[in-house]
Amino acid sequence: MVLPLVSRWSARVLWASPGWRRTYTQRACVGLKRLGCPRGVYSPLAHRAYSVVAGGPEVTLTPERYPVQRLPFSTVSEEDLAAFECIIPGRVITDPEQLQTCNVDWLKTVRGCSKVLLRPQTSEEVSQILRHCYKRNLAVNPQGGNTGMVGGSVPVFDEVILSTALMNQVISFHDVSGCPGFAEVLQTFRTCRGMLGEILSAFEFMDTECMQLVGQHLQLTNPVQESPFYVLVETSGSSAGHDAEKLTNVLEQVLNSGLVTDGTMATDQRKVQMLWALRERITEALSRDGYVFKYDLSLPVERLYDLVIDLRTRLGPRAKHVVGYGHLGDGNLHLNVTAEAFSRELLGALEPYVYAWTAEQRGSVSAEHGLGFKKKDVLGYSKPPVAVTLMQQLKAMLDPEGILNPYKTLPAQA
Ligand code: MLT
Ligand code: ZN
Repeated sequence: MVLPLVSRWSARVLWASPGWRRTYTQRACVGLKRLGCPRGVYSPLAHRAYSVVAGGPEVTLTPERYPVQRLPFSTVSEEDLAAFECIIPGRVITDPEQLQTCNVDWLKTVRGCSKVLLRPQTSEEVSQILRHCYKRNLAVNPQGGNTGMVGGSVPVFDEVILSTALMNQVISFHDVSGCPGFAEVLQTFRTCRGMLGEILSAFEFMDTECMQLVGQHLQLTNPVQESPFYVLVETSGSSAGHDAEKLTNVLEQVLNSGLVTDGTMATDQRKVQMLWALRERITEALSRDGYVFKYDLSLPVERLYDLVIDLRTRLGPRAKHVVGYGHLGDGNLHLNVTAEAFSRELLGALEPYVYAWTAEQRGSVSAEHGLGFKKKDVLGYSKPPVAVTLMQQLKAMLDPEGILNPYKTLPAQA
């Protein structure tokens, strides 16, 4: 076996485990629409016309889809733009083409209509911008990589977008370690934990529909036999030989005991990436499947997949796919439902059902993606009123005018 010369050696094994099976049908979707603000929402700078979303499907303006009212913030004036230009010369963007991508989340489910994107480079510039916005009562939407899943990173209306893209002096990164887990999947996880100990750095699971979708939409190839569930295991020990030996032992053990029906192991970078792509590109495959209703739940691992099965029955043919994948060691289920298009009826069948189900298991309605715009009103399913009130008080202390990322994270105060 040839191992790469990297400081942190990793080996992955993708296994298939026995369980149930299900078939499905596929349909196509899509259309094109114009970008723009709803009439009356925004008037200054209205002459700066928007253009059509290049080659993408229609993204409905957020206030047209969700019951949200614009709060009485000021609107950006030419004087504001001049003030921003003094603070960050050459980094005040009003070009509609450039604004398009910052107004829409990457999943293409929510869309704001901001007319200005600011690109500060230092915390001093951020501070001056916020001072100006505070004085003028302008709402601000901070934006990093715009990779969020809950509409937290794009404006709801015409908030000023404050991008941190140029603030790239990162102080430190922490490795994210994940560990995943059902009957055989759970038992495999326990075996891995026992036999791999501290070198186990990831244990991810995905169901068969996820595997089918990455194949169908991204042309990724499944390297193992078809199965109801797949797990991806990663080790990151200090000795390549040691890791490989341990992983081979685990693989033998789970294959011999019948927990796993097939497996493949990778040590070269190309194959390692190929295996990770199967898991990491599920989100992308889902977004190509149609409109995606996304839930990021924390549940007791023994009940984790029950909700997926339950919803398949509940939704029937109204859903194209109901899938489950995620980080089982954290008790984190990514429950995703795809449909031809957004539908209020389907949303009504999903919510508050999913949240109430989660609350009954004493789970959390947001495991790793945050609350953003879409989940702010469901916080109460996971947190008692006293905790929500405390959070609101803390926010009010730091942001007395409520200009920072309004409409997001916390329910509006009564
Ligand atoms: C993942 O685990 O793939 C990400 O959190 C994205 C997702 O939930 O789809
Ligand atoms: Zn995740």
